[in-house]
Amino acid sequence: MTIQRKASLQPYNTFGIDAKAHLLAEFTSVDELRALLQNPEVQALPKLILGGGSNVLFTQNVEAAVLLNRIKGITQTQEADAKHVLVTSGSGETWHDLVLYSLEHDLGGIENLSLIPGTVGAAPLQNIGAYGVELKDTFVSLEALEMATGEVVLFNKEQCGFGYRESVFKKEAKGNYIVTSVTLRLTKEHTYNTTYGAIQDTLEQQQVKELSLKAISEAVCRIRRSKLPDPAQLGNAGSFFKNPEISLAQFEILKSQYPGIPGYPVNPETMKVPAGWLIEQCGWKGKVLGRHGVHKDQALVLVNYGGAAGNDVKALAYEIIHSVQEKFGISLTPEVNII
Ligand code: EPU
Repeated sequence: MTIQRKASLQPYNTFGIDAKAHLLAEFTSVDELRALLQNPEVQALPKLILGGGSNVLFTQNVEAAVLLNRIKGITQTQEADAKHVLVTSGSGETWHDLVLYSLEHDLGGIENLSLIPGTVGAAPLQNIGAYGVELKDTFVSLEALEMATGEVVLFNKEQCGFGYRESVFKKEAKGNYIVTSVTLRLTKEHTYNTTYGAIQDTLEQQQVKELSLKAISEAVCRIRRSKLPDPAQLGNAGSFFKNPEISLAQFEILKSQYPGIPGYPVNPETMKVPAGWLIEQCGWKGKVLGRHGVHKDQALVLVNYGGAAGNDVKALAYEIIHSVQEKFGISLTPEVNII
């Protein structure tokens, strides 16, 4: 357990921003985490837990103890019933490695979530989702260490309060817990979810004759690679904003002004509008502003071309919010944690 001082966080955030951590240490087990939390230097500071660093934008040096979660291990804990298996993963596993594990063992439910950056422990915080599936669909429970007591506490699905890119860990319980493991209920007999348009088209293009978990995963990887920049090549944190939900009445008015506006019903009164479309309509797509900008293929993604300052990216985000508000009367909310 080594504690580094004034360490660069550049390797630990997918935006590639060069902020410094006051203290930096990693933990590979719950015991190591407890020991770190009892260290007097760490105790004296606020704590920031990082997994893959794929959902943060650093705008300043981090005057905190930054703790890197490296708790590994994936196990099939038990058969839930004839058709399902419970799989428990250490929270420091890379999310896509858990997806690959599920494919190797022919376990279904998370194949649509292939290639989402980040760790297993971060997945429930924002209830990761893509291509018609969310984490909550297979989620059973998680274990988390309560910072105040050092106790490991079990949260069931209801207690996690999942919503669209939301959970209790972003609200009431924010900063109080460190997720140590996550348990999912995966299928042995599969129901494939290909309803999300692009998946069906991609499977057809690939001339897939028989559906399988691997075929869907490959289709999702293909779609993601075609639209979303690889953080190893171009700094980014995926979708920078959430897709806003607006009333059906407001949607109808906008539709009369902008007939091409896409919208997905959330319930009979509410529509979700792709923020990428709104941002593109405001002329931001592909904009390069020195060392940062808006991605050329997906306007929802802000990028660091190399050496960008977090504050420049933040300023751009707020300019985008302002222009979408002016043009459409819709408030965008960042999905990324701005620190
Ligand atoms: N669109 C545009 N211009 C753009 C981008 C999108 O017009 O530059 C419109 C198109 O009409 C497109 C629609 O937006 O059909 C939806 O775009 P896309 O399928 O790329 O999905 P998204 O709504 O932009 C969401 C998630 C992604 C997830 C995809 C696929 C959020 C905030 N983002 O993006 O999640 O991969 O759906 O399910 O909900 C992430 O959270 O980091 C992330 C990448």
